[in-house]
Amino acid sequence: MQKKILDLIKKKNKSKIISLTAYSKNIASIIDKHCDLILVGDSLGSVLYNFSSTKKVTLDMMIEHSKSVRMGVIKSLMVVDMPYNTYRNPKEALTNAKKIISQTKCDAVKLEGGKKVCQIIKTLIKNKIPVMGHLGVLPQSATNFKFKGKNNIERKNILRDSKLLEEVGVFSIILECVESSLAKEITKVINIPTIGIGASAHCDGQVLVTDDLIGLNKISARFVKKYSNIEKQINDAALKFKQDVTKIKFPTKKHSY
Ligand code: KIV
Repeated sequence: MQKKILDLIKKKNKSKIISLTAYSKNIASIIDKHCDLILVGDSLGSVLYNFSSTKKVTLDMMIEHSKSVRMGVIKSLMVVDMPYNTYRNPKEALTNAKKIISQTKCDAVKLEGGKKVCQIIKTLIKNKIPVMGHLGVLPQSATNFKFKGKNNIERKNILRDSKLLEEVGVFSIILECVESSLAKEITKVINIPTIGIGASAHCDGQVLVTDDLIGLNKISARFVKKYSNIEKQINDAALKFKQDVTKIKFPTKKHSY
């Protein structure tokens, strides 16, 4: 197993895992120093392209954005989401995961689901492709975005799926919008790290969409905490630029040839 993955697993029960998303080089290079794991999430479909669901994200989109992110990531483990309809069976998944790994030079891929995708994950891992799991709310197949773990059947299934994913060899699991006590139980019973988004501080780590973190994304959810207001900073800079150009304060001689 790659050193970066082993180091991530070793963090369980020792220190929290820090994870953020990136879709481009400039953002990736800023957050790299603070992260253990950088995810090129298919959330880029809604965040950057205004898609109503991640289902419209293509393999080519993921590959192009990941190539850009790769240029900014030095230290963190880089994981790329396999988009919708690219892992419907083991053969398709293997072809597409190999394409992602070879073209983007990322360290691992992530795919959504539990029992249904176990055979697919087994095939990838057998072919030396590290896989990260994703349980709870699964945006690629969700009909609603309500948190998971409300009733016993849901709880039993998610707990069973976490154990199955660990058994087939994923190195970590994202828990998205999973009820706190269930996230706590999963984190306790499996030996690989859980990384939560809307799944409480009981998880071994936390992930957030960077555009949400910096206040660039208009749509917000309960699990988001905005740490800065980049929208305001860009607005202020654009306004200042407009005023300077209008008043012929920019460009000056210094900026001219
Ligand atoms: O696509 C994504 O950004 C994700 C995170 C929300 C975990 O899967």
